[in-house]
Amino acid sequence: MFQAPFSFGILKRAIDQGLVSINLHNIRDYTHDKHRTVDDYPYSGGPGMVLKPEPIFEAVESVTSGISAVEKGGKLPIILLTPQGRLFSQEIARDLSGYDHLILICGRYEGVDERVRQHLVTDEISIGDYVLTGGEFPAMVVVDSVVRLLPGVLGSDASSLDESHSDGLLEYPQYTRPEVYKGWEVPEILLSGNHAKIAGWRREQVIRRTLERRPDLLEKTTLNQQERQLVEQLGSALKQTNTIKESSL
Ligand code: ADE
Repeated sequence: MFQAPFSFGILKRAIDQGLVSINLHNIRDYTHDKHRTVDDYPYSGGPGMVLKPEPIFEAVESVTSGISAVEKGGKLPIILLTPQGRLFSQEIARDLSGYDHLILICGRYEGVDERVRQHLVTDEISIGDYVLTGGEFPAMVVVDSVVRLLPGVLGSDASSLDESHSDGLLEYPQYTRPEVYKGWEVPEILLSGNHAKIAGWRREQVIRRTLERRPDLLEKTTLNQQERQLVEQLGSALKQTNTIKESSL
């Protein structure tokens, strides 16, 4: 399941260059019975199966035994991917990218024995308010977003700074050649070569776009006075458009 995403593009290059190493561990390798059992029925009934604690504890203990004692003094995140976790964000990705090691545990089936949450993991992360069949895709999402923030992974460090969510707002629109496609033109200002004006236009687009699509993000960010004025102007224009739309329905 993990092979393809880690064998292409930026992740593969990061691995090949030794900027990151990703080690997969199958909890079945930490079972001791003939059937390599990793799950069992829930106590007092209920649907589905529950992942047993022993293989998960043993797998994590085996992995951490290879990591230096200093780091184990509270600074090694052991993260369970679960819909019950805190909601993943660019800010969390940035925070996680500061650690030397991360351990990600993928939940499966109906759940994970509660003692894993209580006594093993240090963090629980959800990638969104929807339920997937397991924590594998969420783990890939976390790995991808964290690895691309590691120094040297992206071609130019600027590209991870100037994009959607890095300052909590959405990115400005991008254009490339041709200058006219099917009669649709690239905004003239982008062809002007006036870098100050372009920067101003882009900032305005960032605010406009965020206001239209994700107004919740604007509330969490600090804007200068000019930007706040723009939000007010655009905000009332947007309200008018919405009122017109509603009244024409
Ligand atoms: N496992 C199942 N659904 C999940 C989600 N939304 N986030 C993290 N782990 C999950």
